Amino acid sequence: MESGKASIALVTGGTGFIGQRLVLALCRSGAAVRVLTRRRLDSVERIRSEGGVSFFSGDLSDHSSLRGLCEGVENVFHLAGLAHTEGRGREDYAEEQWRTTVGGTENLLAEAEGKIRNVVYLSSVKVMGAGGDREIDETFAPHPEGSYGTARLAAESRILEFGKRQGVQTSVLRLSMVYGSDCKGNVPRMIEAVDRNRFPPLPETGNRRSMVHVDDVVQAALLAARNPHAAGQVYIVTDGRIYSTRQIYVWICRALGKAVPKWTVPVWLLRAAASAGDLIGAVRGRRFVFNSDVLDKLAGSAWYSSRKITEELGFHPTRDLEDSLAEMVRYYRQCRRS
Ligand SMILES: NC(=O)c1ccc[n+]([C@@H]2O[C@H](COP(=O)([O-])OP(=O)(O)OC[C@H]3O[C@@H](n4cnc5c(N)ncnc54)[C@H](OP(=O)(O)O)[C@@H]3O)[C@@H](O)[C@H]2O)c1
Repeated sequence: MESGKASIALVTGGTGFIGQRLVLALCRSGAAVRVLTRRRLDSVERIRSEGGVSFFSGDLSDHSSLRGLCEGVENVFHLAGLAHTEGRGREDYAEEQWRTTVGGTENLLAEAEGKIRNVVYLSSVKVMGAGGDREIDETFAPHPEGSYGTARLAAESRILEFGKRQGVQTSVLRLSMVYGSDCKGNVPRMIEAVDRNRFPPLPETGNRRSMVHVDDVVQAALLAARNPHAAGQVYIVTDGRIYSTRQIYVWICRALGKAVPKWTVPVWLLRAAASAGDLIGAVRGRRFVFNSDVLDKLAGSAWYSSRKITEELGFHPTRDLEDSLAEMVRYYRQCRRS
């Protein structure tokens, strides 16, 4: 219930993986929260039971459906978007990504004009691309990855320009890959593949990857909203650790209670298999399950620094992947049972 509260925090994407945690944290801090959603309300029971939450039915890509969304709102947490894996490969993916991410952000800002005081936008390190074995910070010139990265970068600039024009505090958080019990993406896929003995025992290649736990993303979002130093700033958010794929593989084996194989697949063999996969993909006109892209994701680096947010906003990550894998494996097993 929103009535009786001085101001409202609006969360777009409040029904998603990160958004649900942020909504709970805001409610527990006593805020009244409004969640934008396209879904049926009975499908979001988990946050519906929390006092202080109300839902607003609308679609970011349809401006007229947002009328009234920002009435009484002080803080906006803008999380809604199309994940980089969602619908990828579809012919109209780039167009849909742009419509939701950039068009959706423009529609939201048009509705917010003259009403709000603060926007925190959750973007991605994919706006910068990966720098190989180099650690990337916010000064790195952006090389957006695909239509996802390009659309995110454009949405970031819409947000920051809005802040300058309207005298509103705006900040952008560029998240590295986010993990947590019910996350989607590469880590849960890897857990399943290892469990089913479909993941090759990789050797230690010394690649460096950054990630962050969902609870720490929530911490970063709240810090950015509350600290005036965040105005007009862009921050990378990671848990401050560096992970190699081999390390993650070994931890997953342990969390699953499986013995770590004593042998490894040599890198040259993986490269040869990836090249063969590229060739098969080119001949049949469809991506093969293992190719150079997949190998790059497995063995490549994507290493980012979150020093700036730590120094300027006092961000201190509380979780790491090794500890979190137990909860992720528990969740994976629960889903398999149900
Ligand atoms: N998870 C990660 O590893 C990661 C990493 C980097 C950046 N990010 C970014 O962080 C944000 C949140 O990620 P997440 O993993 O929590 O996302 P998620 O679980 O995929 O949730 C996406 C959310 O976006 C909303 N949404 C999508 N299209 C919409 C539209 N047209 N109008 C209104 N709402 C719409 C959905 O709401 P309804 O379905 O209820 O309408 C849903 O709540 C995303 O922008 C994502 O790109 C995530």
